[in-house]
Amino acid sequence: MKKIIFDVDTGIDDAMAIAYAVNSPELEIIGLTTSYGNVAVDEATRNTLAVLEKLGKRIPVFAGSAKPLTRGNREGFAKKVHGEDGLGNVLDFEPAASAETQSAVDFIIEQVKELPNEVTIIAVGPLTNLALAIQKAPKIIGQISEVVIMGGAVFVPGNTTPHAEANIFTDPEAAKIVLSSSLPITMVGLDVTMQTLLPRDKVEAWRNSETGEFFADMVGFYLDFYESVNPGIGGCGLHDPLAVGVAIDSSFVKTKYISVEVVTEGKEDGRTVPNPDGKPKIQVCTEVDAPNFLDHFLKRVPVSK
Ligand code: BDR
Ligand code: CA
Repeated sequence: MKKIIFDVDTGIDDAMAIAYAVNSPELEIIGLTTSYGNVAVDEATRNTLAVLEKLGKRIPVFAGSAKPLTRGNREGFAKKVHGEDGLGNVLDFEPAASAETQSAVDFIIEQVKELPNEVTIIAVGPLTNLALAIQKAPKIIGQISEVVIMGGAVFVPGNTTPHAEANIFTDPEAAKIVLSSSLPITMVGLDVTMQTLLPRDKVEAWRNSETGEFFADMVGFYLDFYESVNPGIGGCGLHDPLAVGVAIDSSFVKTKYISVEVVTEGKEDGRTVPNPDGKPKIQVCTEVDAPNFLDHFLKRVPVSK
């Protein structure tokens, strides 16, 4: 079992990724850390607790960054994509549990120090928490077993601007700190996540349990957004779930070992630029076995209490 710290900005695909992760026996989620991104940090924390409650799982949640390292928040966050509540406007209860008092950044540092070379971090929001953790405690860089990031668009166009993917665009300075560190990173970007689409008929098939209704309504909102932006696309991107899939089984993807630089200004702000000769190098996912991954995901999500 891999010990996982799961850094999320819960959002609809984050919620699916949480369900996938907690239902995967290969992973032991030792804590979820939250940040702003799709919604404000307080909303992301609430959503994370609510999704865990729906799934009947008790895992500690640690609230993290409220804004990017050096910039302000994006107006309206990504609520057009994920709904006013971040969960497709289906959230109709306040979670019973609360976040822990320790901060996300301190939790990451503490756990890596206590479990050297044992912790995998899956980060599927802006990279602010991780950047702050390695700035505060640089020694942990050499003690983290693996970092799987959903972010970037290395050889394909962006989704927030023609050049930039949302998680990197939201805090390019944090992404630069993380991607220029010597962390052992696998980058699961739009290069592969836009090939792993979840079709509507699979989502509708979830409607046979209470949990399934919640997930089907929520993901229905996400599907509507994808269709509105790209008519005929035939599904929504399984961005964050694919990062979980890669942490479970890296054979879902093929990678290139290259360096990735982050643009932090101008019209290409937030772009992730490949540099085959640069350093440090990371594993950039370039191909995915989408049918196999989708099959694996659908066997585990959603699962009733
Ligand atoms: C990423 O951006 C967020 O909106 C999603 O949750 C995902 O992490 C996709 O670009
Ligand atoms: Ca996310």
